[in-house]
Amino acid sequence: MKRLKKLAFAGATMCIGMGLSVAAQAEMIIGFSQIGSESGWRTSETASIKAEAEKRGIDLKFSDAQQKQENQIKAVRSFIAQGVDGILLAPVVETGWDQVLKEAKDAGIPVVLIDRGVAADESLYLTKVASDFVQEGALAASWLAAKTSGVCDLVELQGTVGSSAANDRKAGFQAVIDNFPSMKILRSQSGDFTRSGGKEVMESFLKAENGGKGICAVYAHNDDMALGAVQAIKEAGLEPGKDILIVSIDGVPDIFKAMADGETNASIELNPHLGGPAFDAINASKDGKDVPKWIMANGPLYLPDTAAEEYKKRSGN
Ligand code: AHR
Repeated sequence: MKRLKKLAFAGATMCIGMGLSVAAQAEMIIGFSQIGSESGWRTSETASIKAEAEKRGIDLKFSDAQQKQENQIKAVRSFIAQGVDGILLAPVVETGWDQVLKEAKDAGIPVVLIDRGVAADESLYLTKVASDFVQEGALAASWLAAKTSGVCDLVELQGTVGSSAANDRKAGFQAVIDNFPSMKILRSQSGDFTRSGGKEVMESFLKAENGGKGICAVYAHNDDMALGAVQAIKEAGLEPGKDILIVSIDGVPDIFKAMADGETNASIELNPHLGGPAFDAINASKDGKDVPKWIMANGPLYLPDTAAEEYKKRSGN
């Protein structure tokens, strides 16, 4: 680390001597350990963070973990060895991060958690830039309770097992429906945040629940699984959005199309533009400024009435 900094200093001195710009030498190097590309939202988030880094002249070292925590831990260790100025970490699951976060802290490298949280002491990272998943779950349940007057037997498509997004969205939803004695989760299983996973699990729910006749609604922890469920419901001969209501989270362009077509009923937007606040936080900490432990990025609930217009805006169609 010290050696790298000395080399950078020597390089900068040489550039000044040669009359070259110092700005290019001062660029920040940031490592970004991304989960993978399981959903449309994740793909947008990756593209947005890469674009923001480019706009700011940041040298972004990107690593795709293919959904594996062990790959993320390796990537973080490699960023530490390279002496980066900061690390963005989108943690696939909540637990098992203490050791590697301590290694980054000991190396003096600030870590920003991007979009998901960890179950580790908050002194081990600089900040978390993320929405409140508990609140998203609560919002989905409140909408469904209002829509069904508190009478609904539903199924739940959970996100990746052990992720903060799945844990908190489940907890927030459950806390609200606990107030409605006639709302019950009949079945709940992980579809791993993928469209194919959502379809497969929904097919099994439909089979297990008499072809879907007793299912009032689907609560999907993300839009991709909801879109998979739409397919499964259609193939079972039912009308998604009418025979079975669907509420989900993310606000990807395809869900607005589905809502405009009457096939899903509500989606809570998850902001994918998290790079700006994350890079600002690293800069602020380098300048010795205080950074809050949670930089919140919550989104609103969208309904079919504005879906066609939103789809147009977001897809450029
Ligand atoms: O962590 C956020 C979740 O991860 C998104 O809702 C989902 O689409 C994703 O892959």
